[in-house]
Amino acid sequence: MQHFIDINQLSETQIYSLINRALYFKTQSIYPKYPQCKVASLFYENSTRTRVSFELAATNLKMQTINIDLQHSSESKGEIIFDTINTLAAMGIQVFVIRHKQNELPQAIANGCHDQSIHIVNAGDGTHAHPSQAMLDLMTIVEKKTVLSQLKIAIVGDIRHSRVANSLLHAFERVKVKELMLIAPEVWQPESVSYGRVTSSLQEGLSQADVVIGLRVQRERLESNEQFDLTCYRKYYALTRDHIAWAKADAIIMHPGPMNRDIEIDSEIADGSQSVILDQVKNGVFMRMAILETLQLANQM
Ligand code: NCD
Repeated sequence: MQHFIDINQLSETQIYSLINRALYFKTQSIYPKYPQCKVASLFYENSTRTRVSFELAATNLKMQTINIDLQHSSESKGEIIFDTINTLAAMGIQVFVIRHKQNELPQAIANGCHDQSIHIVNAGDGTHAHPSQAMLDLMTIVEKKTVLSQLKIAIVGDIRHSRVANSLLHAFERVKVKELMLIAPEVWQPESVSYGRVTSSLQEGLSQADVVIGLRVQRERLESNEQFDLTCYRKYYALTRDHIAWAKADAIIMHPGPMNRDIEIDSEIADGSQSVILDQVKNGVFMRMAILETLQLANQM
């Protein structure tokens, strides 16, 4: 694995070996050390958990981390980022963790990069993909529910604009979960799906689900013709006590964060006994350790 850009570039075996490695890291207090590896974070979009999680993951593996503050730079085009990366690579940085609002930019950068020792990691590109989030979500589901092929999984919310949902969909397709329901009001439904079934009925979607994944209402991504009244959203789609009662009694409740509390998820659910939201955050560090290690080891092959 030279780059980590999209779930559909991973085989089922690679997915499980990342999960197993991450679960192994979770049980250890001493980790392997890769002090020669230099990792730069280039976040052109806001982030708390993903950026910190990658940085902690690199630090745990004794990699050198360089956090580049791009927040106030002029909005970059592919070419400019490409120059930035070449400049940093000339200084010996090998791994670039990139978040950008432009769909498929990490892939474009990877395509233009001919040095085998450079690794591009997609930390979220536009509405397209967020593969490390999907991997940490899978890890959390395996940890809590064990056999993915026996599960009914429901994703609820603004699926059309969600890079998390996109990557999860590919992940669930690759590991062949038993049933995947994608629940959203019509304006937020995906235009087409390769896996899973789309419904606008929360009751149908959640019925007997083992795993319920809520998504953030991404107000910043909605065009004027894609608005959906939030009071109405709460009434029909929010993860409330009454609504999650349609899922199995031992269903786990997930959310990638950041959450709009009391909009798409009630606080009593987010903080309740079925919630594994903080487990997701915790697992994120171990999963990103597994990802960074795998990329770093690719140099030695
Ligand atoms: C997500 C993201 O940025 O794509 N958050 C995250 O990385 N955990 C989801 C979101 O923004 O709603």
